[in-house]
Amino acid sequence: MNPNKRPEDMERIVTAEQAEAFIEKSVAEVRKQVGDAGVLLALSGGVDSSVVAALLIKAIGEQLLAVHVNHGLMREGESEEVVRVFRDELGANLVYVDAADRFLDKLAGVSDPETKRKIIGAEFIEVFDEEARKAAEGNVRFLAQGTIYPDILESDGVKAHHNVGGLPEGMEFELVEPVKFLYKDEVRVIGRALGLPSSMVDRQPFPGPGLGVRCLGAITRDRLEALRKADAIFREEIVAAGIGDSIWQYFTVVPDMRATGVRDEKRLYAWPVILRAVNTVDAMTATVPKIDWAVLEKVTTRILSEVDGVCRVAYDLTPKPVGTIEWE
Ligand code: XMP
Repeated sequence: MNPNKRPEDMERIVTAEQAEAFIEKSVAEVRKQVGDAGVLLALSGGVDSSVVAALLIKAIGEQLLAVHVNHGLMREGESEEVVRVFRDELGANLVYVDAADRFLDKLAGVSDPETKRKIIGAEFIEVFDEEARKAAEGNVRFLAQGTIYPDILESDGVKAHHNVGGLPEGMEFELVEPVKFLYKDEVRVIGRALGLPSSMVDRQPFPGPGLGVRCLGAITRDRLEALRKADAIFREEIVAAGIGDSIWQYFTVVPDMRATGVRDEKRLYAWPVILRAVNTVDAMTATVPKIDWAVLEKVTTRILSEVDGVCRVAYDLTPKPVGTIEWE
């Protein structure tokens, strides 16, 4: 039997009852696999790692050591929510690493998108490795991962690469992958059954490099802050308009250029904010939703009055192809 093939008799998990049955079975399997050893998990706050964290908290409580690395490129309130839900509400043994300065220092002056991605990825591995080393000095012997079935299928059935990249030499962790046979919709059903909030379970996709690829060109702290605030306003208004569930991904982008504006009868030279929203099935092609004009106007008014350094708002009408979903 191929250990990376979903068992043929495994039924699709749709209902809460099916979720409960899966959770019960999975809890027993994890307990059997790890015994009294510790389990390390990189908890980004994405759907998959959040569901694995909630499942492991149920299975092994404080034997789970969850590490949340804030790379300074998270959306507004995101890291705080990870801490609130997992540490305060679920009682997780959570290490919060504020690595924003480390990431932003490494990224200073770097404008090439792929170089930015590489720096963010490499720095993430470095920060997580430091935590893994500390954990391995204790009783931590396992590494949990939010691998899901499409990750395995995309890697041709070969063991999925773990999201955190390589671990330092000499550290042998056995993998714990409790949702590796599940599809995304099933992972969400499990997450709901475990009591995770909708803001986590139904979250739109967010790229690993985060706001780093939406603050175009060389990232500066002031432009990053404007981007974060504008993004929060756009998300808030989309949800308030009741259309959050009908748009696959929506966010803002701030280019590394300025445009002319006028405020209080004085000319100013400030950043534009670009609103980007797409609908897609597989992210390979995408269309642009016809967001109601009144919603776009409200977002524009709020961004112009609430976000410092911004004098213009544009809505990107470009489908994919030709434009990719992200701007970098
Ligand atoms: P593009 O821009 O290629 O995006 O049309 C397709 C989907 O992939 C996401 N994306 C990324 N996700 N790391 C990620 O984890 C990345 O570097 C990255 N770049 C793009 C993007 O948000 C969209 O959902």
